[in-house]
Amino acid sequence: MNQRPHTPVLAGPVLEWLRIRPNGVYVDCTAGGGGHAELIAGRLEGGRLIALDRDPLAVRLAGERLARFAGVRVVHANYDRLRQVLRESGVNAADGILLDAGVSSMQIDDPARGFSLQDDGPLDMRMNPTEGQTALEYLKRVDPDELTRVLRSYGDVGPAGRVARVLSRQAREGALRTTRDLVRAVQESLSFVRGIPEEVRTVFQAIRIAVNDELGSLEEGLSQAIDCLSAGGRLAVISFHSGEDRIVKNAFNTAARPRREFHADGRTKTVQEPLIRVLTRKPVLPEQEEIRANPRSHSAKLRVAERLEAGEAA
Ligand SMILES: C[S@@+](CC[C@H](N)C(=O)[O-])C[C@H]1O[C@@H](n2cnc3c(N)ncnc32)[C@H](O)[C@@H]1O
Repeated sequence: MNQRPHTPVLAGPVLEWLRIRPNGVYVDCTAGGGGHAELIAGRLEGGRLIALDRDPLAVRLAGERLARFAGVRVVHANYDRLRQVLRESGVNAADGILLDAGVSSMQIDDPARGFSLQDDGPLDMRMNPTEGQTALEYLKRVDPDELTRVLRSYGDVGPAGRVARVLSRQAREGALRTTRDLVRAVQESLSFVRGIPEEVRTVFQAIRIAVNDELGSLEEGLSQAIDCLSAGGRLAVISFHSGEDRIVKNAFNTAARPRREFHADGRTKTVQEPLIRVLTRKPVLPEQEEIRANPRSHSAKLRVAERLEAGEAA
């Protein structure tokens, strides 16, 4: 098992935007290898850090990396339960919340997890291997039309229908058991393309997103994170593909606007004042130097919002 720690992406900007106060309360929704969490914990004095991850192995490794810091708690949980985790940790509101979406290098680099295109492993892809269906179980059950939709919307796979039909058939016939089988099946379905097509990467990405319901968790997690911020508290979110970034942008824009009800008599009523101010009109991107040192950072986008005081203008 490869346990090379995850290099934290956009670490400098994340720390700057979160403006860590030594005695503040911070939340890392995606502890992973503990990279960002260690940088936050190192700036605390009397403050607290609650770090979550849905992957039990990440929780163990981040727990070991952060064990030397006082005031740090690492919890095995999906961030779509953020509110409950904070309540159970005795936290009413957080001064800063970080969400670094997607998979970690540790997960991708360990063939036994089934995320790797390069090495052979079981077709699993669950971030939390203790619950839910594996990628293979998913492919055996999913309707080819639904799989077509998933490949198209989560992976921008052009020939989605053709790939979906081949994968569904091979999964049901027992020809798909490992990640190498999946690579071969995608290549066969696109036999007119030479070499390993880009579609192999995007098919893996789409199936992984579906198996882990990543976008559903992200929507729920963002809504709870905005709720859990104290006035002036900041939420920093790193996304890695357009589907995630769209959800972050929409969640921020929606929470930054007043929510209005329209009545039949033409009157409108404001039922919710804006909750946040968006601080990054355009997403913050990694510098070339960071991309060179850590190629996985190349598609990262950081967006940051700040919770408003009740009645404060956005
Ligand atoms: C990109 S890595 C985070 C790396 C971390 N920031 C670091 O510096 O080491 C993403 C992590 O988020 C976790 N994750 C993804 N979706 C999650 C969710 N819905 N709830 C909790 N953890 C999640 C993954 O298991 C993975 O460990």
